[in-house]
Amino acid sequence: MNHLLSIEKLSRAEMEKILAAAAIMKRERGRHKTHPLAGQTWALIFSKSSTRTRVSFEVGVTELGGRPMFLSATDIQMGRGEPVKDTARVLGRMIHGAVFRTYAQADVEEFAQNAKIPTINALTDEEHPCQILADMFTIQEKRGPMAGKVVTFVGDGACNVPGSWMFAAATLGFELRIAAPKNFQPGAALLKRAGGKIVCTDDIQAAARGADVLYTDVWVSMGKEAESADRLKTLAGYQINQSLVKLAKQDALVMHCLPAYRGREIDEPTFEAHAQTIFDQAENRLHVQKGILGWVVA
Ligand code: CP
Ligand code: NVA
Repeated sequence: MNHLLSIEKLSRAEMEKILAAAAIMKRERGRHKTHPLAGQTWALIFSKSSTRTRVSFEVGVTELGGRPMFLSATDIQMGRGEPVKDTARVLGRMIHGAVFRTYAQADVEEFAQNAKIPTINALTDEEHPCQILADMFTIQEKRGPMAGKVVTFVGDGACNVPGSWMFAAATLGFELRIAAPKNFQPGAALLKRAGGKIVCTDDIQAAARGADVLYTDVWVSMGKEAESADRLKTLAGYQINQSLVKLAKQDALVMHCLPAYRGREIDEPTFEAHAQTIFDQAENRLHVQKGILGWVVA
């Protein structure tokens, strides 16, 4: 049994195993020979909104033979203050695995420790490991191995998505550039913890030059709505648009984890010009979730 709690905790071999399994899941969709979740019930506990992660896990669990049970945190007692560790100890006696989206990374870790069933981080304020695995799967599918590539993240460089990218960079040997205003860059302690080749800069043009991938995420992450006005002001200019794309490699991929807010982190023409990549990336969430599910129950 395994947990997927963060990219930080995954070795290169484990990442490669999940991504290789995802490729098989994609190729053999509808014709799976084994159903590793047969007879199992999986809880999807979500304290934040979700389209892609929720649907890909509900479909993925079902296609691997299991039964997903969606539990909105507002509907269960956890939303009224029941401790995470008590919720975990109850669910751990009834279900076979859990997918948990919430605020604090510590809560997902506490859940895994107390439930003693395979637990998957479906996004916290610190990490979004399932997303980054699907992103790397998409890049490799279109452009080959990650090693040696330059991935440029533009926007809120201190949120969960770049948080997971940072740990992947060291493990898989690619360069990560984070283009963000100073107060939206990851802290020094986190950079040190991640290791690897990570360049943080407020010079968006320098960060984009020669990149293999330009990647962005929302300026206002879930839970940060109160900071909206300040974020929109400070992050203005940290946008992927047509003039920025011209600085990257000629065949650079433009990626977005979605949902996208046109006119903020990306402009409409650039989004639509790269919609094929962006929606392949979204579809790959499903195949990669199935790779992850197979790995955590192994
Ligand atoms: N990218 C992503 O995680 O999307 P959802 O919030 O819709 O799950
Ligand atoms: N950083 C974003 C990711 C959404 C998938 C958020 O946390 O809202």
